[in-house]
Amino acid sequence: MISIVNITAENIHRFLDDILEIERSSFPSPWSRTAFHQETTRRVSHFWALLAGGSFIGYICFWMFSGEIHLMNIAIHPKKRGKGLGSHLLDKMIELGRSKGAETAWLEVRPSNLVARFLYKKAGFKETGRRPRYYNDTNEDAIVMSMSLLPNRANRLEPDGICQTNPIPL
Ligand SMILES: CC(C)(COP(=O)(O)OP(=O)(O)OC[C@H]1O[C@@H](n2cnc3c(N)ncnc32)[C@H](O)[C@@H]1OP(=O)(O)O)[C@@H](O)C(=O)NCCC(=O)NCCS
Repeated sequence: MISIVNITAENIHRFLDDILEIERSSFPSPWSRTAFHQETTRRVSHFWALLAGGSFIGYICFWMFSGEIHLMNIAIHPKKRGKGLGSHLLDKMIELGRSKGAETAWLEVRPSNLVARFLYKKAGFKETGRRPRYYNDTNEDAIVMSMSLLPNRANRLEPDGICQTNPIPL
């Protein structure tokens, strides 16, 4: 059975070695132990562990503030990928954002990370911008992806009959 546990300053010691192992096998510039600890102290940060039958299999970290979600980090254990678990974490993030009234979600992704780009597209994100040479390690640009969390964003009919489509703020 799959479950999501909030990672806090009190319980992070249970997960951190597993997180760092996945993180180091997933990214060219992995977050440090300190960086993960810091996420448990930020008021805006949501940091979740994904467990299957009690075993740790992935994590997501996102910030929620001023009506926006900013996805900071997501990774699934290499042996558990391709089973819908990344989508599950993203869906739960979006669900929470909507329930708290967030209007937009956005993230940065490397152009070379095709799997992540497919994952985000499937969740409803669209490529809406580019940050030149954003990643210091490889000098790669970042693709900015965003999505509206508002219901029926496209072709929303306002009470006065005006059909409105909001630009997505970046
Ligand atoms: C990106 C990541 C979190 C995806 O997690 P996952 O659990 O494997 O993804 P899912 O099984 O939920 O797949 C969701 C969608 O992603 C895409 N996808 C997943 N694996 C893919 C693959 N090997 N090739 C192409 N597309 C793939 C597909 O569109 C898939 O939808 P589908 O199954 O309907 O085709 C995972 O690959 C990972 O941990 N990667 C390393 C860390 C990383 O790159 N994080 C993102 C940083 S921006």
